[in-house]
Amino acid sequence: MTHHHETFVELFSAGMIDKRLDALAQQISREFDFVTETVPLVVIGVLKGSFIFLADLVRKLTIPVEIEFVRVTSYGQSQTSSGKPEILFATLNDFTGRDVLVVEDIVDTGYTVDTLLKYLRSLGANRIKVCTLLDKPAKRQMQVPVDYIGFEVAPQFTFGYGLDVAECYREKNGIYALENLPEPQS
Ligand code: IMP
Ligand code: MG
Repeated sequence: MTHHHETFVELFSAGMIDKRLDALAQQISREFDFVTETVPLVVIGVLKGSFIFLADLVRKLTIPVEIEFVRVTSYGQSQTSSGKPEILFATLNDFTGRDVLVVEDIVDTGYTVDTLLKYLRSLGANRIKVCTLLDKPAKRQMQVPVDYIGFEVAPQFTFGYGLDVAECYREKNGIYALENLPEPQS
């Protein structure tokens, strides 16, 4: 698996991810044990990167959930944030009094989560918690609350398990990081 002039290293194996999700799911289920089948926890996956993480996580939760998705764009084909995320759609738009868990693939600058939290509050959500598979704190530009973190990563581009490199490799079972190769000598 190569991408342009770069190579990669495995950061977290499928087994490590599975174990970490057991612990996260236990913690979330405990902290939201008051939700009922009449008013379930709204789990909102941020497309597209969170789709695999969300699918695995919700099957480990022991509380009633309702699943929604939202699309927030900021990157396009580029690997650096434009800093102006845009919310493209949400399948549910009445969050009045609802308890919400936002599920992200990675919190980088924080702009996406910040925009989403403001949006959800404007739609009337009650308690809003943020769960991210990966946290890249060194890149933070906006202070945002991140309540549940799968793994912390260094400021390098990561992919696999839902995360892409220009729309590739989302289907990989593990999480990898790109490493830039030194320029070829000529
Ligand atoms: P933020 O708004 O800068 O926090 O960026 C969040 C979004 O950028 C994530 O939901 C990802 O889609 C994308 N992103 C940030 N860093 C990476 C990375 O290392 N690999 C893949 N996608 C990333
Ligand atoms: Mg992305």
